[in-house]
Formats: sequence, C-alpha cells, structure tokens
Amino acid sequence: MRGFIDPARRRFLAQAGLGLLAYAGVPAWLRAVEGMGGMVTMPKAAPHRASPAFRPDVEIELICRPDTVSILPGPATRVLRYTGRLIHGPEGTLTTIPGSYLGPLMRLRTGQKVRIHLRNELSEPTITHWHGLNVPALMDGHPMYALDRGETFVYEFEIRNRAGMILYHPHTHGITGRQVYQGLAGLILLHDDEEQALELPAGEFEIPIVIQDRRFDGGNQLVYIRDMHDRMIGFHGDQILINGRPDARFDVASRAYRLRILNGSNARIYKLAWDDGTPLTVIGVDGGLLEAPVRKPYVMLGPGERVEVWADFSGRELGSELVMRSRPFTGVLPKMAERMMHGAMGGMHGGMMEDRLPLGSDYPLFAFRVTRIMRDSPKLPTRLSTIRRYRIDDTANPDRPVPIGISEAPMAMLINGRPYAPNDFLPGERIPFGTLQLMEIFHAHGDGHGGGGGMGAGHGMGHGMMGGRRGMGRMGRMRHPGEEEPPMGGMGMGRHGEMGMMGGMGMMMSMAHPIHLHEEPFQVLSRTIGAEGMEGYATVREGFIDSGWKDTVLVMPGERVRLIKPYKDYKGVFMVHCHNLEHEDMGMMREFLVE
Ligand code: C2O
Ligand code: CU
Ligand code: CU
Repeated sequence: MRGFIDPARRRFLAQAGLGLLAYAGVPAWLRAVEGMGGMVTMPKAAPHRASPAFRPDVEIELICRPDTVSILPGPATRVLRYTGRLIHGPEGTLTTIPGSYLGPLMRLRTGQKVRIHLRNELSEPTITHWHGLNVPALMDGHPMYALDRGETFVYEFEIRNRAGMILYHPHTHGITGRQVYQGLAGLILLHDDEEQALELPAGEFEIPIVIQDRRFDGGNQLVYIRDMHDRMIGFHGDQILINGRPDARFDVASRAYRLRILNGSNARIYKLAWDDGTPLTVIGVDGGLLEAPVRKPYVMLGPGERVEVWADFSGRELGSELVMRSRPFTGVLPKMAERMMHGAMGGMHGGMMEDRLPLGSDYPLFAFRVTRIMRDSPKLPTRLSTIRRYRIDDTANPDRPVPIGISEAPMAMLINGRPYAPNDFLPGERIPFGTLQLMEIFHAHGDGHGGGGGMGAGHGMGHGMMGGRRGMGRMGRMRHPGEEEPPMGGMGMGRHGEMGMMGGMGMMMSMAHPIHLHEEPFQVLSRTIGAEGMEGYATVREGFIDSGWKDTVLVMPGERVRLIKPYKDYKGVFMVHCHNLEHEDMGMMREFLVE
C-alpha cells in the first residue's frame, strides 16, 4: 500500500489561499474538503509479467519518457511522450506522426493477440489505459497498477472490439490530466473484415486528426492549471494543436477522404462544422462505423469522444480551401463561468483580459487545401455496418436503471455522491456478470430548479445507493429520504449559510460532463432534457450522434441520458468517470464491480 494525499487536492489546498472572488466561503468548505477523502490510499499492485502461455500476434514495446519537441517557433517544448517499437507483428502496425509528441499510431485487427511492454521512464508513476478497448480488468490500466520509474507492465489481451478508434493515455490517480496534457496520448486504429470489405479511403486518404488545446508561456513551455477555476471548469488552452502541431493544414486531392477525429483535449468541447456550411457526413463514432452515414449540420465532440467523417473534396478547385471550425454554442458551463470566460466579469485569472479562445466561441481547427486534381473518387457506401440495436426489454433491469448520478460542488465533482476511492462499491455499483444493463446518467441535484427530482424515480435510495456517508462531510452529497430541501439551489451544503457567495451553486455549477465507461461499449437509448438545461441546448442538440456504439457520452446540464451496456465479457473492476480530466483527477470517478 502507498498512501498519499491526492495530488489534485494537494495542489488545490495550496491554491486555495490565492482565492478567487467567487469563493468567499473558502475556510468552511476547505474543512469539508479535507474531511472528504482528500487522503486516498491507492493500493499498489504488482505489475503483470509476460505469461509464457500467451502467444502474441503483435508485440510492442512502449515507453513513457520526457522529451523535447519543437512545436512553436523558438525554443522547443518539454513534453512527456510515448515512444514505441514493434518487436514482432505485421509491418505497418506502428507508425509515428511526423513532428508530433503523440504516441505511435497503432493499427490492430480484431482477433489479434497483442502484448505490450509498457515501461515507465518518467520521474513519477504512470500507467496506461486503452480507452474504448474491451479488455480484462487486469489489462485495463487501473491506477493501482501505476508503475514506478523503471518498472514495466506487460499487457496481454486479444482484440475483441469491432473496427473502430481507440485512444491510449495514462490513468494515473490524481495526475491523469497533467500527464495527458504534457503529451502522453496516442491512437489505435482497429480494423476488421466487415470494415475492410467497404474499401473506405485508406493510406494517404485516411487522416487521423487528434484535436487538443494547449497554453504556452513566453518560453514555449506548457502551462497547466493556473488556479481553482481551471481545475473546477477543466483546463482550457488558448491554442489549438492538431496531431501536436499548430495551424494544421492538410494538402489533399479532389476526392473523398476518411477523417478519423479524436477530441484529445483535457476539457474542451468542440462543435465541429465545415466553414462553408456543407453538412458533415458522419460514418462512425467511438465504437466504430454507424449502420449508415448520417448528415449533420455540426457534431458535438466532448473530450475522449471520436467521430469519423467522410470528407469529399471531389469537384473542388485546385487551390481551394475547406476549414473545419468549432462553431458557437452555449450552455455547457456554469453561467458564472461562462460570463467570466467571455470577459463579462472583468476577466478571470487574476485580472487577465478576455480569453483568446473562450469555450463555445467560433474558431478554426484545421484546414484542407486542394493541391491535386483527381478524377476518380470512391463512392460513399450506403450501408456501413450491422448494429443490433438493444431494446429496453432486453435489459436485466428495465425498471431499475443503474444510476450514475453527477453532482457538482466546489472542488468536488462527484459520481453517486462520492469522490473516487478504490474498492468502495455502493450497492448500485455492483453489476451482475453476464447481463445487459440499463444505466442512467443524471444530475443528482438540480436537474429541475431548486434541486427537485434530482434523484429520479426508481433510483438511488431504492438501490440503497446513498447508504454510508463515510467521508462525505457536507460536500455536495445528495439528499436522503425525508430530508428537507437544501436552501441554496440544491447543493446540500451551506445549510447554515457558510457558502456566502456560493448560494445557488446547484444551478450555478451545473455543466456538461463527458461521461466515460470502461469495458464494453454501450448504446445510447435516450436523452431527456430538464428545464435547467434548456438555455443553450438549442445550440448543441443537433450535434449528438447516438445511433452507434459509444464509450463516452456528453451529458449536458439538466440532461438525463439512458444507455444500455453489456457486461458479458469480463468480471472485475471497471471505472466510470468524467473525461473532463480535471474532473476525473478531482475524484469524479467511481468503479463498477462486475461479479
Ligand atoms: Cu480515456 Cu478511463 O479513460
Ligand atoms: Cu477508458
Ligand atoms: Cu465533468
């Protein structure tokens, strides 16, 4: 066992003294935070070693190490990165993206047996998770397997997913956000027979696009969390990098391309749209191809989400340009933060003026320039794949969805009323193995006004979810049956007015969260929006694609998302968390025990 103060909280405690106008009530809730599980004891499990019985088709060495990369003109930037080497396996399994700090691009196939030797050469612990990959719990990159410097973890798994797009990144307790931000991330493209029979654009006509936002200081070094605001809202950079490069522009031929887009940002949400108003032709999402292409005026992409776009430049003139932008939207941030970010309150971050790249503003992401005319172009297939849609009656629990209750409090974004703790399973967090589960993500307080109805009929208490207030203090816990309504916007805190300016935080704090579930992918069954979320919802609602396989879903303020997820492949512990990585690091993560 190693016990340590969760680094996110330690930084928070250090920063709390700096203050932020909105947090006049700090001392009272600082105590609450300290009493709330700021000390998390993470067991340290021995790394898995190669098993002689496992016969890999692909064997890779992957190293996490510090490096410097030239990103902006001037001094090179210190980063952390993955470097890789193919020990054994088909040619083309590993490629590097030139000039990028991103890890090697891996191409794997369904059915392949894969062994990856992950070695930590950082001066801090790290462990890697394969986001979207359906692997045994031991191979999932749980934080208890965090490697010390010099240690190696040998992953061994068979690819069970269908064709799709996986990302890999650290999952180190409390410092995932910083490690990803410093450069530790990479892509895996999975192929299978069904997908390859379509002969979608490949080779130079298939372009992986990882969107990230970063912030640099005057010496070209990465700037991370500056204050409590960055931690609470999630960290937003002021410069877009595509595949680790600024000002991305791709030279293309006048024909169709397959764009494989990942939102690899810590917290930034994008609203992807072509600058000339052409609808986006979407062919795939997180878990691979849709059944058929769909046309969208724009696509919302939260951190961790992927989208595949068919981009057809046929008929475009030599020299012409098409730009993918992030278009304006609102309603994803607490109202106070939204105003601050746009400078309406005199700017945040110590009087700094308006942010250069406010969330939800209109800015370019990447551009295509037609530099070559080609006569032939592949045709967009009308059918892409077969997806068996689950129905609610197929689930083991049609009347009692597994609750994933989001609650927001200052410095404590929670799931099911508790901060992350290993091996701390509430009754509703135990899932019977071999079943198909109906699950519901909802805002646990204030999905209507004043916190009413937050728990949802059939939820929570019915499951005994809220039993045990251990370590919760007063922070953002949900109400108990028969408990009076908290007086200040449903926060369940400030009952005696400690919150001062935080009054009404239940609504003030409500924001969008990209919720990610490990293990098998799921299908989104429905979305319902409560009154609280209505403002701004119209600016995003056309941008969700719920018809494919997902592993991360953007949940808007006031929104209730139902999904159906199989738990049929592996028993064990699998995480569920917000993929706003600052939220994850603050403890907005729980575990499901599949047993
Ligand atoms: Cu992409 Cu549990 O994370
Ligand atoms: Cu994941
Ligand atoms: Cu979140």
